[in-house]
Amino acid sequence: MEKMVIEGGYPLNGRVRVNGAKNAALPIMAACLLIHGTSKLRGIPELTDVKTLCDILNELGVETKKCQDGSLDITVKDESNITAPYDLVRRMRASICVLGPLLGKRGMAKVSIPGGCSIGSRPIDIHLKGIEALGAEVEVKDGYVIATGEKLKGSRVYLGGPYGSTVLGTCNIMMAAVLAEGRTIIENAACEPEVQDLANFLNKAGANISAIGENNLIIDGVDELNGVDYEIIPDRIEAGTIMIAGAITGGNIVLENDASCYLASVIDKLREAGVYIDLRDAVNNSSGYENKGECIVKSDGNIKPINLTTLPYPGMPTDMQAQFTTLLSIANGTSVITERVFPHRFMHIAELNRMGANIMNEDAIAIIKGVSSLSGTTVMASDLRASASLIVAGLAAKGVTEIRRLYHIDRGYERLEDRLANLGAKIWREKE
Ligand code: EPU
Repeated sequence: MEKMVIEGGYPLNGRVRVNGAKNAALPIMAACLLIHGTSKLRGIPELTDVKTLCDILNELGVETKKCQDGSLDITVKDESNITAPYDLVRRMRASICVLGPLLGKRGMAKVSIPGGCSIGSRPIDIHLKGIEALGAEVEVKDGYVIATGEKLKGSRVYLGGPYGSTVLGTCNIMMAAVLAEGRTIIENAACEPEVQDLANFLNKAGANISAIGENNLIIDGVDELNGVDYEIIPDRIEAGTIMIAGAITGGNIVLENDASCYLASVIDKLREAGVYIDLRDAVNNSSGYENKGECIVKSDGNIKPINLTTLPYPGMPTDMQAQFTTLLSIANGTSVITERVFPHRFMHIAELNRMGANIMNEDAIAIIKGVSSLSGTTVMASDLRASASLIVAGLAAKGVTEIRRLYHIDRGYERLEDRLANLGAKIWREKE
């Protein structure tokens, strides 16, 4: 096993390119189950989660081919298998996103129920309610969801849950409905940019999806989808993480292939915390999809305390909560973070406190009393974004930080240490 070693205290300086979005890549790759011919996907990041989904697709008779130009060609070769087995699904909770397209195209799906994880219990009840509304019969047996429905029928379905909309639930029902008979309206659909990207991909392949990005998403069934060439959007969470790394180290960085059009809530809060952000060359359209501009992030390292609440898009992303917790741990005063998407997503706090932070957590609230500095020590990553928050902490801390259980970071950030090192960070991997 490997660990990450960081010698803190070096401001980040320079330019960095934002990679394609993991959470757009995964459902779009799964959507290829619905498609005749080959789809060429561009901008798919090199991540273990992407590799896991390739393994599941291969198991389901789909060929996934990495091309010389970095694109990924996906072609369905054999539609006879409908089972996504536990051994593959357990590696990544997002594997549930094959449920909708398998059912929609093959008339049946048997998908292992993903377990909970360190960010919460993560039920799939709303996904199941959605496919039942389309006429599928659903049985939960021996740890698997077995869904059957030879010809699904469009329907109106409300997909809200106790914590708002569901991202992968919306993706699953959209994918199940795209070849169904008639019109489906998803009420309280998730509006995240990655959900919009999936809808745009499906439309390019021949689907008829409208009101994309709105609360009531409309899907009119079509007979067939065909392979397309598609570039996925940049990763707003990777961009936000690097912005915070720049801010906490008192750096001066420029993000290329910028995702700031999807980061209004993050940019607003960073500015409130005293970080200078300039959006250059951003194409100012309402959907923001043309934005290939640059984002400049500058900070003198003096962070003001702020309060923030995570919410579904366009609110503050829960996937940025841990990184903000780190940033605010060295603010000049007390901040309050309220987690409204995954109320127990606070495993990083104990580790940050081991680095000298002063953070209290009760229920869905973290109270962060800013300290003058963090100090390096050995810490344990518990999930993907918690790992990112510990790396950000290590960059700012005095002394050396070692992060164990590093495999989490490779699930969602491509060669993060190389990219931070290019910006002047002292960071490397070592064998444990
Ligand atoms: N929920 C239910 N029932 C369901 C589905 C969800 O109660 O059937 C609850 C969840 O427990 C949670 C809330 O609804 O409290 C929102 O969960 P959601 O379904 O939106 O999450 P997800 O689709 O499983 C995606 C991202 C997560 C991100 C969340 C929220 C992917 C692959 N994953 O998960 O990303 O945190 O949306 O934005 O898109 C990450 O990248 O690190 C990550 C965890």
